[in-house]
Amino acid sequence: MCGIVGYTGPQSAITPLVEGLRRLEYRGYDSAGIALGTPGSLFIEKRAGKLGNLEGALPANLPVVHSGIGHTRWATHGGPTDRNAHPHVDNEGKLAVIHNGIIENYSELKIELEKRGHKFTSDTDTESVAHLLSDLRKENKGDLTAAMREAVKKLRGSFTLLAIHADAPETIVGVRRNSPLVVGIGDGENFMASDVAAFIDYTKRAIELGQDEVVTITPGGIEITDLSGKKVAPREYEITWDSAAAQKGGFSHFMLKEIFEQPKAVADTLIGRLSDNNQIQLDEIHMSDKEIKAIKKIVVIACGTAYHAGMVAKYAIEKWAKISVEVEIASEYRYRDPIIDAGTLVIAISQSGETMDTLMAIRHAKAAGARVLAICNTNSSTIPRESDAVLYTHAGPEIAVASTKAFLTQVVAVYLIGLKLAQVRGELKDSEIHNLYNEMLELPAKIEQILETVEPLRELTRGFAQSASVLFLGRNVGYPVALEGALKLKELAYMHAEGFAGGELKHGPIALIDQGTPVIAILPAGHDHALDEKMLSNIQEVKARGARVIVIAQEGDKVVGAEHIIRIPVASALLQPVLATVPLQVFAYEMAVTRGNDVDQPRNLAKSVTVE
Ligand code: F6R
Repeated sequence: MCGIVGYTGPQSAITPLVEGLRRLEYRGYDSAGIALGTPGSLFIEKRAGKLGNLEGALPANLPVVHSGIGHTRWATHGGPTDRNAHPHVDNEGKLAVIHNGIIENYSELKIELEKRGHKFTSDTDTESVAHLLSDLRKENKGDLTAAMREAVKKLRGSFTLLAIHADAPETIVGVRRNSPLVVGIGDGENFMASDVAAFIDYTKRAIELGQDEVVTITPGGIEITDLSGKKVAPREYEITWDSAAAQKGGFSHFMLKEIFEQPKAVADTLIGRLSDNNQIQLDEIHMSDKEIKAIKKIVVIACGTAYHAGMVAKYAIEKWAKISVEVEIASEYRYRDPIIDAGTLVIAISQSGETMDTLMAIRHAKAAGARVLAICNTNSSTIPRESDAVLYTHAGPEIAVASTKAFLTQVVAVYLIGLKLAQVRGELKDSEIHNLYNEMLELPAKIEQILETVEPLRELTRGFAQSASVLFLGRNVGYPVALEGALKLKELAYMHAEGFAGGELKHGPIALIDQGTPVIAILPAGHDHALDEKMLSNIQEVKARGARVIVIAQEGDKVVGAEHIIRIPVASALLQPVLATVPLQVFAYEMAVTRGNDVDQPRNLAKSVTVE
């Protein structure tokens, strides 16, 4: 939800700003803009549409300027137009602001500021901050940092803000509340951005910022203060991946690259988790055996694809650890009266660690006394910071908006938690843990095997490109896989797609089946193939009504009624989602390519959803 970058140092700022925005474009691509710190008056350019439009609008003789801020937008208040693109400036055109998030009290502020003579030129909530800061800077004798502290006290909502003023253009001031901002420490230069990807080419040293911390960077200094002006010691950390991870590496799209990175991502997430005496090693969950035994109920909170990983968690943890698991859509969770107590373990799953719905839900759960364990892919992001403990997935940076490798690693992480709980509570023997873990270690090679044989699937997909709608069916852990397959297709191919539990079909959805409707059935389901027969009946039911059925089946599985069969390697039923999801990712990817859609940046979406 909006990408933000700031630079101050000896380089011509346009290069790190535009490169940074390119790396952050996954966060929103409705418009892009920059403000360069030209002394005396800022140079501003902004354009609706993708970053390329902004680049095209930049003059060839752009002055060499050594500081600036840049923004790529996912529109909330005000349509995606040039006028509403960030930066927004004060009436003198000397102070520029960029913003990620929502200023909830912007209309009250606007009325007040208009009374004081400010003229507004956009429909955004952000512009009110530019005018407010302008007044407060004057009241604070030209001190932009002090003005930012005062401004933040008057703002409600979630925001990351960066500001620059033409009278001290080498200084950039930022702040964050419920929205991400990191500082990059360079050599004689400094950076700020929504995500370290923006400056990874220049430095691997980063500082995480806490809630309501105001940071001021100049080429030679970084100062962090709280809202009372008290200095805050920087919390520095090292970025552990390099810039190659944030590039396409010869693949036509980030999504395809990320699909092919899945064997490594799964292997990295699994590595070193079983001791020589067959004990699951998850020290980072920070729970004693006594505390694990005291868990009464688990609530998994997540959104979108991460929610589907949570659904797999329910099947695995209930089966292995015999603890009741509820799976909640984060945005729904705190707006009812969920039953939470000290016996509740909340597991929050989030690739980005910044999803506002999930963050708000865990705050609610914590306030009610629950312990919160995060599963997250982004170091030092907000959700892990606010949780009691975090199990990091090791998928590496996921740039494509549609989640692939993060999903598989989230599923693997919930398996590890399930095994740990089962072991401590004595529900699985050490030998069973050993066998399951070793079977999990085989998953990367099995995913590799699927990826080696995707060409026929890609060809098959192209044949369905004109379909109006695609339905996905699954049972047991095949059900979340069906939902995930449908979500991927919706977001990438813009086709109507729905996933159903096979048993629900006859309770309504079967009416959707018409002559030629493609139905993808995920056959591996239920322990010891207990549900295969039922899935085969579902296949017959839809085929009898004219569906064209594609079946995802294990090698050797008996399949009747399929027009096409996609074979995946054999695995225990509960582990199958890690394999069965892969062909569905490829199906959605190929469908998007065939239909001419933007695979990595599908319309209307943003990678990191930092507004509720
Ligand atoms: C779908 C997708 C989204 C995210 C969801 C949660 O491909 O990527 O549905 O899974 O927005 O995001 P995180 O995991 O960052 O909390």
